[in-house]
Amino acid sequence: MSLFKSVKIINSGKAILLSRKKGTPLRYHSTWLRDNALDSKTRDKKNGQRLISISDIPITTYIKSASLSKKGKEIIINFLPKKKQVKFSSSWLEKHAYDKKERNSKVWINPDLKIWSKATLKRVPIINYKSAKSDKKLLLKWLKSLHCYGFAKMSGCEKKSGTISKIANLFGYIRETNYGKWFDVKSKSNAVNLAYTNLALKAHTDNPYRNPVPTIQILHCLKNSTKGGDSKVVDGFNAALRLKKVNKRYFNLLSKYCSRFEFKRKKNAHLKSRFPMIALSPDGELTAVHFNNRSIAPITDVPYNDMTNYYKAYRKFSSIIDDPAMALTFKLNPGECFILDNTRVLHARTGYSGKGSRWLQGCYVDKDGLLSTILTL
Ligand code: FE2
Repeated sequence: MSLFKSVKIINSGKAILLSRKKGTPLRYHSTWLRDNALDSKTRDKKNGQRLISISDIPITTYIKSASLSKKGKEIIINFLPKKKQVKFSSSWLEKHAYDKKERNSKVWINPDLKIWSKATLKRVPIINYKSAKSDKKLLLKWLKSLHCYGFAKMSGCEKKSGTISKIANLFGYIRETNYGKWFDVKSKSNAVNLAYTNLALKAHTDNPYRNPVPTIQILHCLKNSTKGGDSKVVDGFNAALRLKKVNKRYFNLLSKYCSRFEFKRKKNAHLKSRFPMIALSPDGELTAVHFNNRSIAPITDVPYNDMTNYYKAYRKFSSIIDDPAMALTFKLNPGECFILDNTRVLHARTGYSGKGSRWLQGCYVDKDGLLSTILTL
């Protein structure tokens, strides 16, 4: 289908302007067009990787002529001083348009994500392990929901140690750490981590002391017959946006300055990192939340004059995260697991005691695997 009405060379050949049938005109620079050519001398036919580098494109590159093909499906461009003809499909150019208004450094989130709270997350995305393994359509739908909400559940998993690696392999690869390929979450004496006790754990993201931070976490339940030990999850992006709404200054402090995190075990691990509690990309995308009261280290990157307000901001952010209206609470049953985006969704546990036992296994998976599986499925 033809998307464009006409093409015009502008700025002495340094750009083109494409008038669209629908929407505002789009401009593209000569260097950008040359760099993104899709011909077999610019990109390898088999793997699609670029065969040229920026230094192969003369700085004086300009467009000698540009025309639309008869049916308007293609745009044909001739470059000089290095003679080169390149064709682009209209749909490819429109899909990769960048002639947009500046974002004004406003905070924004990926449009594929949905912010939630206890009241708005009506249905938790859930899939049965067998269906996930055998039905690619259902698996894709569930993985998309996992990405969208940063949280999903799975039922019907085997109640056997190590099953978690099979679950991870449905969409990615386990990231091994000093805790092993996977780790047991149950009460132990002399626990190396408070997670391995029966104490309540406040909502947190896992391992913020690690850089890069683990991006996906799976927790698989093998036993859970104790009193208490319920799981809670909180949308950290919602908490960050709520903080921004109630106090923009607090939000700015937590995103401007880095906090510090540390985990030290005598023999085999000493991990340290520096992250803002609320991480933004340079153009304002909310990319991560790092929050963990157990592993926060002395904060030394906030200037003296801002420290009082930084602590006020930290306290407010913490109270929003702990607001019961934010959390989804549930008891994980044996054979169930939950998966969360550890860069966004915080998890918590109520304390437990009495008879019975509680045994969970956890592991980390890299999020790139999840996103790649979504795209390839
Ligand atoms: Fe945790």
